Amino acid sequence: MSDLIKNLTKTTEYIRSKCDLNPKIALTLGSGLGAFADNLEDKVVIPYSEIPGFHQTSVLGHDGALVFGKLGNVEVACMKGRIHAYEGHTIDQVVYPVRVLAHLGVEKLILTNASGGVNTAYRPGQLVLIEDHINLSGLNPLVGKNHDELGPRFPDMTFTYHQELREKMQEIAKSMNYDLVSGVYAGVLGPSYETPAEVKMIRTLGGDLVGMSTVNEAIAAHHAGMKVVGVSCVTNMAAGILKEKLSHHDIEKEANKAMKVFIELISKFIQSN
Ligand code: HPA
Repeated sequence: MSDLIKNLTKTTEYIRSKCDLNPKIALTLGSGLGAFADNLEDKVVIPYSEIPGFHQTSVLGHDGALVFGKLGNVEVACMKGRIHAYEGHTIDQVVYPVRVLAHLGVEKLILTNASGGVNTAYRPGQLVLIEDHINLSGLNPLVGKNHDELGPRFPDMTFTYHQELREKMQEIAKSMNYDLVSGVYAGVLGPSYETPAEVKMIRTLGGDLVGMSTVNEAIAAHHAGMKVVGVSCVTNMAAGILKEKLSHHDIEKEANKAMKVFIELISKFIQSN
């Protein structure tokens, strides 16, 4: 058994000792979106600092706890806060929680994030369904010896963002009279925001959104056989579109404003599963 599988077994045993729930669906809550987890019933909150193999996030707006609970009859696991490679964590550490969720038996993963709008038709506060990604992080969690127990050496990436789940998300948005457009998320390493020239480059490459997370988690989740769906909250127009500076504080504020529709969309999606 590889060290990774041994560690995953240790971590999942610890989590199971704290919580009886057996969710098939999980979500990762991005910057400013952590409040979603507060709505769960029968909550079990396990701080990352107590979970073997997990690392603590240092980013403002990211709480750092695995929260299990119920939404109606559906059991769900929330990663309230995520760790990022720009904090100095290795890419193995960044995707470890995703691998733990897969090891726990989670089949569907909703990845959420805050992003900059590269597509000039977007507006701050808007939610966008991720239809595909461009990995510009310079990293890949599958580099190194392949863990055949998790997934294949060369995973196909054509259907990373699961079509049926995307259609379901669109259907639910429609029932809410919410115009949920689809876009391509470009994942960068950060932590500096992009220059205006980089934003132009991303637009030329086909990116609609830019952010510092998600792509490597999506790769690890897809590799491990999970169905992935992604929702991004555009918290600002990317650098150079408006003639103003970007600030993390403003980004959190916009994410909070989008919270009501975000909670409704994600809650209805989870309950439709
Ligand atoms: N760039 C990168 N990451 C982000 C941004 C941005 O403009 N906004 C929120 N996360």
